[in-house]
Amino acid sequence: MEIAGAAAVVTGGASGLGEATVRRLVAAGAHVVIVDRDTAKGEALADELGASVAYAPTDVTNAGDVVAAIDLAGSLGPVRIAVNCAGVGWAGRVVARDGTPHDLDLYSTVISINLIGTFNVLRLAAAAMAAGEPTDDTSERGVIVNTASIAAFEGQIGQIAYASSKAGVVGLTLPAARDLASVGVRVVTIAPGTFDTRCWPCCRSRRARRWRPGSPSRRDSATPAATTPPSLSTSCATVTSTGRRSVSTARSGCRRSSS
Ligand SMILES: NC(=O)c1ccc[n+]([C@@H]2O[C@H](COP(=O)([O-])OP(=O)(O)OC[C@H]3O[C@@H](n4cnc5c(N)ncnc54)[C@H](O)[C@@H]3O)[C@@H](O)[C@H]2O)c1
Repeated sequence: MEIAGAAAVVTGGASGLGEATVRRLVAAGAHVVIVDRDTAKGEALADELGASVAYAPTDVTNAGDVVAAIDLAGSLGPVRIAVNCAGVGWAGRVVARDGTPHDLDLYSTVISINLIGTFNVLRLAAAAMAAGEPTDDTSERGVIVNTASIAAFEGQIGQIAYASSKAGVVGLTLPAARDLASVGVRVVTIAPGTFDTRCWPCCRSRRARRWRPGSPSRRDSATPAATTPPSLSTSCATVTSTGRRSVSTARSGCRRSSS
């Protein structure tokens, strides 16, 4: 995917991984809309990065907000890139030490933002991409990068809500890629390990506190997955930060893993 000249939406773009992704995309020549509910940080980052960046105050669970953000991106250039980084963590066991069951509203909130918010942006961005022209060189219309977590596969004690939400993101990746292969939109999901951001303290379990997190920009952002398809015929992959990659070809439906 040619990044230069394309318009991108980055959810959670005001902080952490999303902010690093915004900076990387701008450096590569994209027009970027920061899609985040943190107005102070979103506006400050847009001001800092200049004319190729705009901020759209958005709750990713709200359809109207996301439509407005994608329309704003469409006014900057052809919408070809959507990166889902918005997310929240919550630490709580199924049953707490004092016998209290996990709060159902908190569980719903984490699922709503991390999973339903991701799907909301995916469906609306995909519709905008599908309505656009394919690129001259590869006949692609766009790429959507989602952020899961290593917790999708190895949820720790206290990560029941967070791990459930991220497993859902992994689960939607393959059917979304199969649905969208015919319109030339790739879907990939990254599953990072821990890195040091605002989200990190609320995601970590007691055991995880002994680990040393990386930095969100260590691998520079979520964009390598956006720009480098695993192979020409592959339109769907979930990539972990250890480099393990579960790859599926949306066209044939065959599945393989590699390191
Ligand atoms: N930090 C880690 O160790 C780690 C590890 C694996 C995966 N992740 C995932 O990476 C992604 C980015 O996390 P981060 O560590 O950069 O966190 P962060 O807190 O620095 O950034 C998250 C951003 O999402 C925004 N956001 C939250 N809810 C939103 C909503 N409803 N609508 C719009 N924006 C909303 C926040 O305002 C914030 O700017 C998340 O999906 C997180 O689950 C983080």
